[in-house]
Amino acid sequence: MTATPIAVQVRAPGKINLALRVGAPRPDGYHPIATVFQAVSLYEDVVATRADGISLEIHGRGEDLPVDATNLAVRAAVLLCETSGTRAGAHLSLTKQVPVAGGMAGGSADAAATLLACDQLWGTGLSRDELAELASELGADVPFALTGMSAMGTGRGDLITPVMSRGTYHWVLAVQDEGLSTPEVFREYDQLQHLDLDDGPAPRLDDAVLAALLSGDPIQLSRQLGNDLQEAALELRPELGDVLAAADRAGALAALVSGSGPTVAALALDHAHAVSVAGVMRAAEVAKEILLVTGPVPGARVLEHVHSR
Ligand code: C5P
Repeated sequence: MTATPIAVQVRAPGKINLALRVGAPRPDGYHPIATVFQAVSLYEDVVATRADGISLEIHGRGEDLPVDATNLAVRAAVLLCETSGTRAGAHLSLTKQVPVAGGMAGGSADAAATLLACDQLWGTGLSRDELAELASELGADVPFALTGMSAMGTGRGDLITPVMSRGTYHWVLAVQDEGLSTPEVFREYDQLQHLDLDDGPAPRLDDAVLAALLSGDPIQLSRQLGNDLQEAALELRPELGDVLAAADRAGALAALVSGSGPTVAALALDHAHAVSVAGVMRAAEVAKEILLVTGPVPGARVLEHVHSR
């Protein structure tokens, strides 16, 4: 017999967009995109404990983020509570590794981890598809944080198709002190491209990026990396040019802005090469932090169920 747990711990990953193609804005304010996501080994951990009402505390990065109903983790718990009709509550203890407002979907990972943790805590009986639907209501990047590994994202980025990938890729991340606002980067993109509502072709991915992932060869993948939002992020944060140049000088296979930035991801051949690239980039003092991560890694998953004795 499985008793309901009194606490559940769930871990969800951050992501890098290996390729990101963006179309013209839609009437709802979103842009159609075609992207390939890779989940990487920076994690958001949520421990959900039985409690009255919904409350949140934050550890690690983002300790000064709001913990009220505007926080996406709280919104995720409230949405699941309303949808499932449960009368239970939860206290959420969130430990963040993913840079805040860094273009790596940390807030989306918080929401995905919270959905899964509260689902288990409350025994809602919702299917994974139903959770994915709630995820997409919460934000464009939340469904991918549930799925993880490597996947294509279409629509707003929320329609997820898993893709095959061989091997492990080694990345050096340059994390900035100050984040960038995703809507602002999209607006800058529209201005740079002179885009109006529904104007222009639908975004399309080049199949070569999928072939490169299948090959398991980082050199092949490095030739396929690309981000339509990079120019807009550089316009808003010109110093990112120095970060990209430092990655190049450090011998990275390629480097690009992750999502809407400002985190820069530099691809290395293997772990030893990543350590060497990271050393040179650290010495260049172009970022607040230089981190080593690998991908792909799984999406949101339960680490622990705690039962009362
Ligand atoms: O869905 P999420 O809340 O993460 O999106 C934040 C904002 O980023 C949106 O309100 C929109 O301005 C912008 N966005 C977009 N097109 C997308 C994803 C996000 O314009 N595909």
